[in-house]
Amino acid sequence: MQTMPEGGEAAAREPQPQPQPQPQPRAYPAPCLKSLTTNDKYETPPVVIDEILRYVPRDALVWEPFVGSGASTAHLQMRGFSTTRGTRRDFFQQRTAPEGAILISNPPYSTKERVFAHLAELGVQRFALLLPLETLGTRFLSNFRARMSTKLQLLVFSGTRLRFLSPTGTDHPRRRVPFTCAWFCWGLDLPSTLEFAEVRT
Ligand SMILES: C[S@@+](CC[C@H](N)C(=O)[O-])C[C@H]1O[C@@H](n2cnc3c(N)ncnc32)[C@H](O)[C@@H]1O
Repeated sequence: MQTMPEGGEAAAREPQPQPQPQPQPRAYPAPCLKSLTTNDKYETPPVVIDEILRYVPRDALVWEPFVGSGASTAHLQMRGFSTTRGTRRDFFQQRTAPEGAILISNPPYSTKERVFAHLAELGVQRFALLLPLETLGTRFLSNFRARMSTKLQLLVFSGTRLRFLSPTGTDHPRRRVPFTCAWFCWGLDLPSTLEFAEVRT
């Protein structure tokens, strides 16, 4: 014979508490080096690098972690800067920032949120990243800005959209990117929060 639980039929029908989903730490795709699109690999025209170098001390050690073809590193060296890629081939495996270095790089765009998360983890204070201007409106950038003790400064490429170099760093694909680009800078002492540059690419 079936027995009724205490409290009668109503209690028997009461919904049982379900386990609630717990918030999970943010999962980032990995390994990043193997999951990139061609769009992540377009290289920086030298004139675009030159614009940010105006604000980098001549004796600085420049940390260029996203080496790609090596053309940007070669350009930095040609301009007289010492460079390092860090101790790990994969930026996200780098456990400490190279001492005293200023990071200057055009990171793979699809990884930009993860790049900011890693910079925060490493406590990097002086750097410039070339990014689409629309990055300014993202939640992750807003959170990152709140964590930094220094202010974001922008060097915006205005007048025309940039044409990047092919992933080999040699030739120009015909089309310009469909967005405005800017160097997002911390700790580089630009004259003001918002600077503009016009270049021909
Ligand atoms: C947008 S390209 C820019 C290359 C170069 N920094 C420049 O400014 O011309 C980004 C490069 O980073 C490389 N890359 C992607 N993920 C990386 C990672 N986790 N660590 C180091 N390099 C990475 C890509 O293969 C690509 O060549």
